[in-house]
Amino acid sequence: TQKNKKLIAGNWKMNGLQASLKEIELIAAKVGHYADKGTFLICPPATLLPGAKALAGDDLNIGAQDCHSEKNGAYTGDISAEMIAEIGGSFVIVGHSERREGHHESNEAVKAKAEAALGQGLKPIVCCGETLQQREKGEAIGFVTQQIADSTPDSLSKDGEIAIAYEPIWAIGTGKTASVDDVAEMHVALRKTLVDKYGERGNTVEILYGGSVKPENANALLHTQDVDGALVGGASLKADSFLGIVAAL
Ligand code: G3P
Repeated sequence: TQKNKKLIAGNWKMNGLQASLKEIELIAAKVGHYADKGTFLICPPATLLPGAKALAGDDLNIGAQDCHSEKNGAYTGDISAEMIAEIGGSFVIVGHSERREGHHESNEAVKAKAEAALGQGLKPIVCCGETLQQREKGEAIGFVTQQIADSTPDSLSKDGEIAIAYEPIWAIGTGKTASVDDVAEMHVALRKTLVDKYGERGNTVEILYGGSVKPENANALLHTQDVDGALVGGASLKADSFLGIVAAL
């Protein structure tokens, strides 16, 4: 399936001080030109969320990189979906491989976060991806589709209520991208997983690709079967490179 609009999302990870907000301002000033082709999102660190929202205007969405599954309470260091919604955030990334690895987040924990996000009207971007070792052993498709089956909410109450992102771990921040054929194979398998789980509504879930997406490779990746957008790390930190990806739409 081909969607009319792609979702181009930037994940700043643990990068960006207040001075970086100028990049948000530059991105916000330009993405409106591409509004018929895409939806645009930047997920800065939590400290920059209110500042980013103040500069984002109508054409750029702001989201967070994680949320807790509980509404509030004794969870030192965490932020809730409600806190993100209150400052005007509209998306939240959940289950990024860096959190699955570094914070031992299980599929079950990721699913609870995605459900908490839905409860606050946020759109969760549920991440998945295999290690190089799993790919070399031929286990990538089986592992990743199971990860998504287990990490996504049980049911969706409207079309496009969640997005997912396929990020092969070996392609993150390495300059290596998966081949267009491998991306297509995985995205088609993920589409089937979503349709098996949600019926027709599974076709309305955007499947993003992430892992060393940059202006030079964005066009080919974004026009690959069942690729509905990109989740961009390094190249989202500067307005020029993020907008270079947007221009590839
Ligand atoms: O979430 C985005 C990410 O993990 C990809 O990072 O730097 O390879 O684009 P990067």
